[in-house]
Amino acid sequence: MQFPDYRPRRLRRNEAFRRMIRETRLSVDNLIMPLFAVNGKNIKEPIPSMPDQYHMSVDNVVKTAREAAGLNIPAVIVFGLPEKKDPLGTGAYAKDGIVQKAIQEVKNKCPEIMVITDVCLCQYTDHGHCGMVEKGVIDNDGSLDLIARTALSHAEAGADMVAPSDMMDGRVGFIRETLDENDFANIPIMSYAAKYCSAFYGPFRDAAHSSPQFGDRRTYQMDPANSMEAVREATLDITEGADIIMVKPALPYLDIISRIREEIDLPVAAYNVSGEYAMIKAADQMGWLNGKEVALEMLTSIKRAGADIIMTYFAMEAARALNS
Ligand code: PBG
Repeated sequence: MQFPDYRPRRLRRNEAFRRMIRETRLSVDNLIMPLFAVNGKNIKEPIPSMPDQYHMSVDNVVKTAREAAGLNIPAVIVFGLPEKKDPLGTGAYAKDGIVQKAIQEVKNKCPEIMVITDVCLCQYTDHGHCGMVEKGVIDNDGSLDLIARTALSHAEAGADMVAPSDMMDGRVGFIRETLDENDFANIPIMSYAAKYCSAFYGPFRDAAHSSPQFGDRRTYQMDPANSMEAVREATLDITEGADIIMVKPALPYLDIISRIREEIDLPVAAYNVSGEYAMIKAADQMGWLNGKEVALEMLTSIKRAGADIIMTYFAMEAARALNS
């Protein structure tokens, strides 16, 4: 069919037609809201590099989780800022650690929302790396036990799903085995399988105080130039027992999301990271673009690329827009 017989504009003529033939529908069901928990009471401190995001004590984490549940958001993912850091990141797997306390309280007071946890050491180690450091290098195999202990402590606190983001080799299998041995065979693992070494994490590292104190994360996070490697990483994680495969960041990696969607038959998640959030917020504050419209367009594009699940700091704003 060719012009003038075929005119694509016919089906764009009004909203009813557009609605009827829309291929991608962003839904609240797809969204996960990240939250930052700190020790203390009645704390809700704005995070400067992430407008409208806060460091919250557990009481306020619960409040926000309730609000998210009220908006029909299915899950939150909790990040913690411990009081103290040390070389082995012991705060990550402490029974009374900040994330463990937050999980317990949210599950107690707002059981209808799922609590997912980020399993990593970088917020808890004094060197800021995601694994343990032996003579200046990241010790992969030595880190696995600490990472699995972290995941187990989250499950024991009541987490509904764990999401390892450390990028150590073999960690998904190690976590699966540890959870299974401890009667948590029913807790799924959402693996940050294709996590790139990205400058888009900048605002998060301010927020989570998790910048590496020496070197960078290039020996464990993926090279942004690679695509086949993402498929290899995903395939490995599936062999080890991953239930959901994540790509991170999202917007600059839509091609990776789309490729993983085609080559992998598990649910695909995408992490719309802090830098993607901050740049829209900044441009919105400058009056250079309409932040709300751009955010919804971005989230739709991430879903169109193939993501079933989107972790995004826009979750609450998007939910309000989608519910209205
Ligand atoms: C921890 C972790 C990071 C993010 C999520 N989990 C930071 C990093 O890897 O440096 C980034 C999230 C974001 O930027 O929004 N490893």
